[in-house]
Amino acid sequence: MRPVYSFTIVLLATLLASSAFGQKVTIPITTANMATVLQTDHNQRLKIIYTGKTLSRLSEYEQSGEVINLRSEGASSNNNAYAVAGIDNNFVEPAIAVVHADGNNSLDLRYEAHEVIDTPDGATVTKVALKDPVYPFFVDLYYKAWREKDVVEQWCVIRHDEEGEVVLHKYASANLYLYNKEYLLTSYNGAWAREMQPAETPLRQGMHTIESRLGTREHLLASPNFMLALDGQATETTGTVMMGQLAWNGNFALQFETDVYKNLHIVAGINPYQSAYHLKPNVSFETPRFVYTLSFEGKGKASRNLHAWLRDHTLLDGHGERLTLLNNWEATYFDFNQDRLVSLFEGAKELGVDLFLLDDGWFANKYPRNRDNAGLGDWEVNRAKLPDGVPFLVHEAEKQGVKFGIWIEPEMVNPKSELYEKHPDWVIKQEQRPEIYFRNQLVLDLTNPEVQDFVFGVVDDLLTENPTLAFMKWDCNAPIFNGHSSYLERENIPQSHLYVEYSRGLQNVLKRIREKYPMVPMMLCSGGGGRSDYNLLRYFTEFWLSDNTDPLERIFMQWDYSYYYPAITMCSHVTNWSNRPLKYRVDVASMGKMGFDIRTNELSERDMTFAKQAVQNYHDYKGIVWHGEMYRLASPYEHDIASLIYVNEAKTEGVMFNYLTNWRYLAEPSLRPVKLQGLDSDKLYRLTEINLYEGANTPITGQKIYSGEFLMNVGFNPLVSSSRSSVVVKVEAVK
Ligand code: DGJ
Repeated sequence: MRPVYSFTIVLLATLLASSAFGQKVTIPITTANMATVLQTDHNQRLKIIYTGKTLSRLSEYEQSGEVINLRSEGASSNNNAYAVAGIDNNFVEPAIAVVHADGNNSLDLRYEAHEVIDTPDGATVTKVALKDPVYPFFVDLYYKAWREKDVVEQWCVIRHDEEGEVVLHKYASANLYLYNKEYLLTSYNGAWAREMQPAETPLRQGMHTIESRLGTREHLLASPNFMLALDGQATETTGTVMMGQLAWNGNFALQFETDVYKNLHIVAGINPYQSAYHLKPNVSFETPRFVYTLSFEGKGKASRNLHAWLRDHTLLDGHGERLTLLNNWEATYFDFNQDRLVSLFEGAKELGVDLFLLDDGWFANKYPRNRDNAGLGDWEVNRAKLPDGVPFLVHEAEKQGVKFGIWIEPEMVNPKSELYEKHPDWVIKQEQRPEIYFRNQLVLDLTNPEVQDFVFGVVDDLLTENPTLAFMKWDCNAPIFNGHSSYLERENIPQSHLYVEYSRGLQNVLKRIREKYPMVPMMLCSGGGGRSDYNLLRYFTEFWLSDNTDPLERIFMQWDYSYYYPAITMCSHVTNWSNRPLKYRVDVASMGKMGFDIRTNELSERDMTFAKQAVQNYHDYKGIVWHGEMYRLASPYEHDIASLIYVNEAKTEGVMFNYLTNWRYLAEPSLRPVKLQGLDSDKLYRLTEINLYEGANTPITGQKIYSGEFLMNVGFNPLVSSSRSSVVVKVEAVK
């Protein structure tokens, strides 16, 4: 870490000096547009006195506490910067709860010092040191502010110097306090094939929690993403919106507690469910990061902030290329052999995609993986199906001009497997209770370093044997049930560490993989969209949103995912899940990272010609979709049409996607022009419809030229109708 700007050092010195004289210390954490201000009270307790727009006079931040009304007895703790449990002046949900080495369960945290550091990656980190006045127990609060992105990452590091272990019963990453008075929360619950279902909850007095306790495949139940409209409804372009996520591959809890003052207290972190953590002296416990942005120009800006932050600072190869692909899962399921696979390569080549992805079913011999009830864990190629092994397939695909990728699910095991027979103690289960299966399988115990080696080995062996293997799909279908680890038991580590150490174990493996194979693209998949957290996306290039690939469903799902994730991360495949027109399926897949999962030999010549052209078009504009800015123009939740545009940085090129979402006769007349966004008012643009069947006519021929000003104020009519149910339009600035 580099030292701070000189002004910060001066400011810091002044602030510290005031603290020495018993005055308040004010710590503004700012980005270009948003600020959170911390301030000590006369007891050196740290408070949040403001969260909102940045102020131009730095000196006025310290006055923001003066307008707060938290005067009744007890309420002074409501705005604590990190609420504690166990002292009697705390009326609110704690961010931290501990039992000290001597059995005492009280905690008080007082401000000690703070420092502000510019980091080499271009952010500013504010670290605030808190300490218990009675116990040698320390919490450092971290705020990493990304100035231009208006994104803050918040986390903390907990340690102590007591004689013995301190048990952390709760250890949140972040504690926020908002004074906005009106809050509309959007959260997302789900189920298989119904991931990311939005629900809006106006927050009234009391607690609303978003949480998952599944251990793995966490988002099956709920997503760790949230959106808060502050001060009334927000639109894509107006209103104050906070959006964010707890970046953690494991159990999470996001608590929204509205108090009697109509202020909102947010506590976000690892879910304390069954997770009391025994912390040894002088060992630091670092919490995951809580990531959020605040936009004063509506939801669209908030999304673009998160997209930019993710691509620039978190996502693996965020600015790189991605591989379009043909997957065989829905095309064959488990029913394939070498010849059948080889015959599919031709389809990939003909379509013009980059890669063939071999899915589940290629491994295990004693208990062949011919269904989902056997073989998981036995990662040797199935000799009956694939006598010449994976290297043959890789070479054969390459010979035909496509790369080759492969599916794995290395964290899991079928009870019917050699792995289970050899290493029953590698499996998470309660010995004395019946096993509980999810998709006929159990979870391997990643707290165990030997299991970590094994999981690393699955990837390493494949890449060692096949150095040109170009892609991996990493699946994870079962949650953790009957949570018990024989490794932790052997090592005398409390079972309540299981969830945390599992998540850390998985990260260890992924770190090792990335040290050895920094860039091999990997898709994060979890029985559909069971995993997509920002933490795992440090190791993955993309994720699978859902097994539900009905394009109409995907329009809604991708809409909701798009608040938090840029298109480059969103794997979007054309399948036969629904019988909607091929064009509709292809056009929907084109607004993400495109792939196919169909039997290409069953396409008519006309369909194949169309699909090939659409893939070619996609290759031409994919850079705009992956690296450009996204603007949601018409919501399928509010209209009978969904419309989005991706625009390049120079605002010279864009691609607009429009889809009919309601086939009722009544719907059509209500379709209106769509106002574009993200263009340059002063530029002139040509709009041309693409992705058309051979010989099809279009009214959008590129002959008319419109100004950016016209397109963004009057709008453009893509002429969506039941006979034109999806319309893709290329937008090009005219020189
Ligand atoms: C679940 C995934 O979501 C599917 O895409 C597929 O890979 C299957 N698992 C394979 O078992």
